[in-house]
Amino acid sequence: MKTFKLATALVASVALPSVAFATDLEVTHWWTSGGEAAAVAELAKAFDASGDKWVDGAIAGGGGTARPIMISRITGGDPMGATQFNHGQQALELVEAGLMLDLTDVAEAEGWKEKVFPQSLLDSCTVDGRIYCAPVNIHSPEWLWLSNKAYADAGLPVPANWNEFVESAPQLEAAGKIPLALGNQPWQSNLAFGAISIAVAGLDVWKEVNVEKNMDMAAGAEYAAVFQAVADARSLAAKSTVQDWNQATNLVITGEAGGQIMGDWAQGEFQVAGQVAGTDYTCLPGLGLNAYLSTGGDAFYFPKNKSADIEAAQKRLAALLVSPEAQVAFNLKKGSLPIRGDVDLAAANDCMKKGLELLAQGNLVPSGDMAWSPDVQKQNEDLLVEFWKTDMAPEAAHAQWVSNLKSGL
Ligand code: GAL
Repeated sequence: MKTFKLATALVASVALPSVAFATDLEVTHWWTSGGEAAAVAELAKAFDASGDKWVDGAIAGGGGTARPIMISRITGGDPMGATQFNHGQQALELVEAGLMLDLTDVAEAEGWKEKVFPQSLLDSCTVDGRIYCAPVNIHSPEWLWLSNKAYADAGLPVPANWNEFVESAPQLEAAGKIPLALGNQPWQSNLAFGAISIAVAGLDVWKEVNVEKNMDMAAGAEYAAVFQAVADARSLAAKSTVQDWNQATNLVITGEAGGQIMGDWAQGEFQVAGQVAGTDYTCLPGLGLNAYLSTGGDAFYFPKNKSADIEAAQKRLAALLVSPEAQVAFNLKKGSLPIRGDVDLAAANDCMKKGLELLAQGNLVPSGDMAWSPDVQKQNEDLLVEFWKTDMAPEAAHAQWVSNLKSGL
């Protein structure tokens, strides 16, 4: 018996590695909340299992903090292997500067043009007919997340839409709850404004302004009503003193706050907290007023590196990110929708099912990230932070907002 054990030990010690030598790839992203970390771990696990090595480069503080760091590393000659950006124009200048890897051969070999849905996601990766990113999810920012517990504690029905939410807010506040949870970062004010815009002004007016760039409409009565609604929301969030979006989500999870306007990445937090959609929390896409999906979300870009081994590993990762297996494992944890229609999300919960239904119906609008340049978005982010955090009159904010848009025409 002893001999047998020794022989086994010897064989084990000289066994060759089961895969080819792994190439380490540093991947930067800003997914650091509980739900986000659980989701990105699925991508890392899949890449490691494929024979390469995911070296995680998480950057805390959200996209507004992470993107400048990513960009300066790429322009400064210290590129990572892959990095997250949102769908849209955020990496356009890097692509135009020739700093990003052309993935067109991967896209063609993997049939991305036939598989990625909606096509707009691949369009926003395409520059001069060449493809430079691998889309990984569809996130729609415009959801209202409600704590069933907060309303039960206050003896109130859970609101069915934004208007009912605003109407019942005084009673909720009287019961000691914060009506609206909101984190104190610019992109969150901007996101809430975008959601209220479509909910109050309607989809057609939103498209007329953000797609057709109709500035008369932007200055008109519909958006005056939007700015008044945002001023109302401002008072409902006055007692929300948290910073990060997931801290605001946690106020809803614990029942301290009635609701939060946030993207469906909030799902990941409810899941990590063990909460069940429809039982513990209620989700209202389009704030329950205009059921649609704004196809925001994330894609990975691959900065050019000097090493052929790294480039080969970059292309393997790009193909893996769009694969059905990675799409299901990642998006179920992330709370986002997959970027291809041929995957089975049997495990999707009630909220994801609402999103999948809207996607299938084609109730889609292009994400705000794709409609205006990062510069115009930044001007309006700064304006909206001031508007949300001060007693600036809605009329003044509306006028400045129109002026900012005109600067981007
Ligand atoms: C968004 C991103 C999401 C989510 C969110 C909060 O820009 O698309 O994946 O993580 O930031 O960090």
